Amino acid sequence: MIYADNAASTALHPRALEAMLPWLTQHWGNPGSIHTAGDTAARAVARARDQIAFRLGCSPREVYFTSSGSEADNQAVLTGAAWGAARGRRHVLAAAFEHPAVLRPLEHLACLGEIELTLLPPDGQGRISIDQAAAALREDTGLVSVMAANNEVGTLQPVEELAELCRARGALFHTDAVQAVGELPLERVKADLLSLSAHKFHGPKGVGALVCRNGLTPVPLIRGGGQERGCRAGTEHVSGIMGMAAALEEACTGAEARRAYVSSLRDRLAAGLARIPGAHLTAAGAARVSGIVHVCFEAADRETLLLLLDRMGVCASAGAACSAGALEPSHVLRSMGIPEALARGALRFSLCADNTPEEADAIADAAAAAVAQAGAGEGVLS
Ligand SMILES: Cc1ncc(COP(=O)(O)O)c(C=O)c1O
Repeated sequence: MIYADNAASTALHPRALEAMLPWLTQHWGNPGSIHTAGDTAARAVARARDQIAFRLGCSPREVYFTSSGSEADNQAVLTGAAWGAARGRRHVLAAAFEHPAVLRPLEHLACLGEIELTLLPPDGQGRISIDQAAAALREDTGLVSVMAANNEVGTLQPVEELAELCRARGALFHTDAVQAVGELPLERVKADLLSLSAHKFHGPKGVGALVCRNGLTPVPLIRGGGQERGCRAGTEHVSGIMGMAAALEEACTGAEARRAYVSSLRDRLAAGLARIPGAHLTAAGAARVSGIVHVCFEAADRETLLLLLDRMGVCASAGAACSAGALEPSHVLRSMGIPEALARGALRFSLCADNTPEEADAIADAAAAAVAQAGAGEGVLS
């Protein structure tokens, strides 16, 4: 099997597993308990928080552990919107191609009449520009949310500059950095709110983090005990937190060399895909994360292509994993102005440093065969 769906989830790094194991097998104390076992767990969580804060260029007090990137995104935008509303700044700006974990809670708040939401359309290459954001910011804008890297087409956004722009204009800035670990120097991005998810950078599933800077306090989504300084109730996922800290450490060590290698695979795969009749590479002219190749095939059906690829032993995706079951039209591609007919034949391949040049070639060959087979009208289930 060739795994080319790393934007959906990644293999657990052996060091992350190693960091997790003792907290699953030997030390099961609750970090909130006042005994030695509890204290051991609490100290481990504190160490992991220090490590993560160091890598993100913030104070440990600004790191809040969550159950996922989705939870961190929800908490970030609810916190930003509440901050704005309390100051008469009810306008929120978000990129139109944000992850649903950002868009859905914002739409919910807009429905309740608590915010006024403006969605910024990216250009045809999947980029949001500073000038565009500056023009759309209003006196009453309280929050701007633009993801650091788009999860479908892989484009990187100018988040360092957006954070500065928002600060100068008195608005909070949130960035969903779930796909950007190891791709951007996140310690330089001084966003007020930043979300992460461990399983996107070779950490475990079911754990994420919200960074909340500049004296902001996250609005709790889960109320109960006093964990995470009262901002996120629930016993800490100790092994997951340990795995996330170790995975982040690995992702930040040697990131430049890893990016160079993975982008060479990406370019090799893109060149192979470009040779397939009817292929249109998406956002090929934009700065992108090292691992994502997005392509649309004319007159093709992505579900058929994915099933054929899977039969040939290639795991890919049509876009975001969370919407893959439904295979609804991609809001990301629509926001970029990609015609619906072309978006119907969209595939995303996402590579990591575990992939090889031979695999990149084999994926392109499999895609060519799938496109030919699908075009020839062969039934997928035959
Ligand atoms: C950009 C982005 N944000 C948020 C998420 C949600 O993360 P999680 O799977 O941890 O809920 C994802 C996952 O697909 C993502 O790609």
